Amino acid sequence: MNQPLIAPSLLAADFANLQRDVEMVNQSEADYLHIDIMDGVFVPNISFGFPVLDAVRRYCRKPLDVHLMIVQPERYLEAFAEAGAAVIHVHYEACTHLHRTLTRIRELGCRAGVVLNPHTPIGELEDVLENIDVVLIMSVNPGFGGQTFIDHTYRKTARLKNMLATGGSSAMIEIDGGVSVHNAARLVEAGADILVAGSSVFNAPDPAVAIRELKEGRLPLVA
Ligand code: DX5
Ligand code: ZN
Repeated sequence: MNQPLIAPSLLAADFANLQRDVEMVNQSEADYLHIDIMDGVFVPNISFGFPVLDAVRRYCRKPLDVHLMIVQPERYLEAFAEAGAAVIHVHYEACTHLHRTLTRIRELGCRAGVVLNPHTPIGELEDVLENIDVVLIMSVNPGFGGQTFIDHTYRKTARLKNMLATGGSSAMIEIDGGVSVHNAARLVEAGADILVAGSSVFNAPDPAVAIRELKEGRLPLVA
């Protein structure tokens, strides 16, 4: 089985020790650092903004995977590209002109990601497949870390994999929310390429080991 790429989510880091936690991610086998931007309007929570992102970027040596949980994300694309985003994910539910927004993300030199809330059908993406580099399936309702994984994600991932293949798309599939070693292997089997993990990484006794276990789809050894 293919090994997934792993994107630890900064939201679960210790904000009083951000440099230490970013350094851990640098030293680990993580492939990205996932950055959750919440505006308190699109989702009922506020995370952090540009000053924190700028500080993180100074130390982070992994590409930044930026997940915008904000209304009118098109207003901030330049700013996030400038802040060092390698991937910019916008929510399908937040974009009136999704095609234009995705095109703009690529013009800015970033990879274009679209996020689907748990209730949003994958079919909504059919007419923009060629404009997408990554589809991010939310496996929880966005807004908070530490929530319970929604089981329909396995089915949704497998259907999306199919739809991408049929449509001739090479977009990657990313999963975000409640991901841990308990569902990683099954998600990869269903077609996931990238796994985002917040609490299962940062609350682990050894986060770098947790990242490796996610990659290998291995359950932790019980002592
Ligand atoms: C939730 C965020 C996630 C969050 C994941 O709205 O998009 O990236 O940090 O956290 P866990 O892995 O704890 O569910
Ligand atoms: Zn996220």
